[in-house]
Amino acid sequence: MIIGSSLYYFKTLTSTNNVASDLLRKKELPEGSVIYTDFQTAGKGQPGKKWESEAGKNLLFSVIIYPLSVSPIEQFLLSITISLGLCDFIGKYCEGVKIKWPNDIYVKNDKIAGILIENSIIDDRIESSVAGIGLNINQSEFPSGIPNPVSLKLLTGREFDTGKCLKELLSELDSRYKQLLYGDRKHMHSEYLNSLYRYHEYQVFRTEEGNFTGRIIDISLSGLLRVEEKNGKIREFTFREIEFSDSPY
Ligand code: BTN
Repeated sequence: MIIGSSLYYFKTLTSTNNVASDLLRKKELPEGSVIYTDFQTAGKGQPGKKWESEAGKNLLFSVIIYPLSVSPIEQFLLSITISLGLCDFIGKYCEGVKIKWPNDIYVKNDKIAGILIENSIIDDRIESSVAGIGLNINQSEFPSGIPNPVSLKLLTGREFDTGKCLKELLSELDSRYKQLLYGDRKHMHSEYLNSLYRYHEYQVFRTEEGNFTGRIIDISLSGLLRVEEKNGKIREFTFREIEFSDSPY
């Protein structure tokens, strides 16, 4: 087992990503080390956003990896790996698990998990990567500012053992990470596409230049979203340049 080879538990901390990066600065931790906690006082979401989670109810952790065979231009492969591992785990308990590009995990139209990957790139290689995951397990009430949250408990009507969930999820992540290192990356890419929320469905997108109708047809190697307009024109977007016009964010 690579992912989950060493576990570091903190009852409370600022952010598992920050603590993982601080530990990395002090010493090299074994690949696959996991920093996990019951509560974050400064949980980070995607840039400019917070990640809030009720104490002891959910999974909050970061995995440290050294993906030497992944070049910086291919770093989106890490998102693919983590997203697929999360889908594998959540899919054991409910149907309709999807990846909302680039990093959100949805069940039907609600968000159950978020991923924040922070890479340290030195001399054109990924020296280390901290993959932070927040997965809602037993929380059943969320602050009103969170647009469309859901948890395993809300979806299934039952309480989960978070310790067991962590173990199972780490095992799924480990399998996906081994697939990234030794397996078929093209296949992972197509699995990611096939798990995409609203893949190939025509819908209205919002961009700075205005709204347009199109459908997601691919994700580039570097993680850009490829959208085909109704007239056949293909456009590429980075995260933040485009959103679904009915997105709650
Ligand atoms: C997002 O959807 O905005 C990304 C959320 C990522 C949250 C997790 S919780 C564990 C790790 N530590 C953090 O501070 N953030 C990530």
